[in-house]
Amino acid sequence: MFWDKLKKPFFALAPMHDVTDVAFREAVAHFGKPDILFTEFVSVDGLCHDKSREKMKRYYLQFTKLQRPIVAQIWGNNPDHFFEAAKYVASLGFDGIDINMGCPDKSVIKQGGGAALILEPQRAKEIIEATKKGSGKLPVSVKTRTGFDDATIDEWIPELISVHPVAITVHGRTKKELSRVPAHWDLIGRAASIAAGSGVYILGNGDVSSKSEGINLAEKYKLDGIMVGRSVLGNPWFFSDKDEADYVSARKRIEALGYHAEKFDEYFSEIKRFAHFKKHIKGYLSGFDGAKELRSKIMEAKNSTDLKNLLDKYSGRYI
Ligand SMILES: Cc1cc2nc3c(=O)[nH]c(=O)nc-3n(C[C@H](O)[C@H](O)[C@H](O)COP(=O)(O)O)c2cc1C
Repeated sequence: MFWDKLKKPFFALAPMHDVTDVAFREAVAHFGKPDILFTEFVSVDGLCHDKSREKMKRYYLQFTKLQRPIVAQIWGNNPDHFFEAAKYVASLGFDGIDINMGCPDKSVIKQGGGAALILEPQRAKEIIEATKKGSGKLPVSVKTRTGFDDATIDEWIPELISVHPVAITVHGRTKKELSRVPAHWDLIGRAASIAAGSGVYILGNGDVSSKSEGINLAEKYKLDGIMVGRSVLGNPWFFSDKDEADYVSARKRIEALGYHAEKFDEYFSEIKRFAHFKKHIKGYLSGFDGAKELRSKIMEAKNSTDLKNLLDKYSGRYI
């Protein structure tokens, strides 16, 4: 079980829908690999249909050896579907399964998934049990928030712990708070003190902007691990051990953009429009003199080949 072998505090790449696909994960694993990588969330209902299953696998559940240990995140509301989906995910060779109990998206909440499960602890527990049964030996973890409308850590975390997920990631905001307020790390710390002695690992998540900040937070709040999402956009060096991630030259940024684009092409040229990739350009081409001008030229790219050509044409003067 990979979780037990990690050195603390461990660092995880957060699941991010339409961002942490196989191409993005490959770039992160290549330039500065974290201890754990998570896929974006995948609907268990979709995974239970033969027709959509193959499509979902191609879009969301591809991975490479370099990305191990890799955890697939699933969401839904029906325990039977979690059981089936977990069986399928296990058959794909993942190292773990994570259950999304934090997504605030309206359509997810309407279906009783994501953060809505905070309001249904009994069902949440049934889901964890069903996922464990379906996953065979794979460790099952949960990612959640501090509460739905109000912070309910004191009630919610013991409910989860009672069915022993291997780990709980706490995003330090309620569903109601979305991403509007700074993450409440004191509440994440409270979750850790509630979990102390239970054997359940606690990861903190929300607004971590550098690896050293993450290390300090883990120490201060006695956490086993830290999960990071947005700060890794355009910054696949985030998890690297050196201070490298603090300053990356323009040349390296340009090369990394090219690498990521190549991977996007390799996995998605036939199924995803290039527009899905374009959102990454700004992150890579930022923080150096002339970044804005270069960006405006590169943004004209219509596909990865175009992007490579434009990078070759305009990036010569950057060092
Ligand atoms: C574009 C985007 C997509 C996200 N998709 C997911 C998801 O699929 N599953 C999930 O559990 N959280 C998802 N999240 C939430 C992140 O995993 C994370 O909890 C949140 O961004 C706070 O961490 P950060 O401040 O390090 O980004 C998403 C966040 C963003 C910005």
